[in-house]
Amino acid sequence: MAQEKIVTLRVNGKEVKIIAPAHRTLLEALRHEGFVEIKCGCEKGDCGACAVLLDGNPVDSCLTLAWHAEGCEVTTIKGLGNTDNPDPLQKAFIETGGAQCGYCTPGMIISARALLNDNPNPSLADIKQGLGGNLCRCTGYTRIFEAVELAAREIRRERQET
Ligand code: FES
Ligand code: FES
Repeated sequence: MAQEKIVTLRVNGKEVKIIAPAHRTLLEALRHEGFVEIKCGCEKGDCGACAVLLDGNPVDSCLTLAWHAEGCEVTTIKGLGNTDNPDPLQKAFIETGGAQCGYCTPGMIISARALLNDNPNPSLADIKQGLGGNLCRCTGYTRIFEAVELAAREIRRERQET
């Protein structure tokens, strides 16, 4: 019987081993290991709910094969911050009401984080483009865009103070 392929990667700074047969997606493998903060939506690359950072780049984990992540660093929404020390985006989504049912929020914030890492002063058009792969059924997007603008201002202010 063929041995199952085991892949070692890091998730939010900690080493994790996942079972990665050829067809298994990173979304399936990581949720199986308990990383259920990565949301499972369409499973075909349409909604962005499953977005994670893979070595700093945003990817849809439903379109990424698990074995492809060997040796990589995966960042999920929980790796960005927590209740005691939230990422500015997490704070801003709460303040503006950018999270309602919240199902899209982990992927939305991951995509927004990637955008702000590249461009800390995005225009509204930049934000719309950066979040173009993330669908939300609840908010009408306006509050999400406000949240990203608010977080961007906060990040720029923090940088000026340091
Ligand atoms: S679940 Fe991956 S894009 Fe929808
Ligand atoms: S807040 Fe419900 S899908 Fe976006």
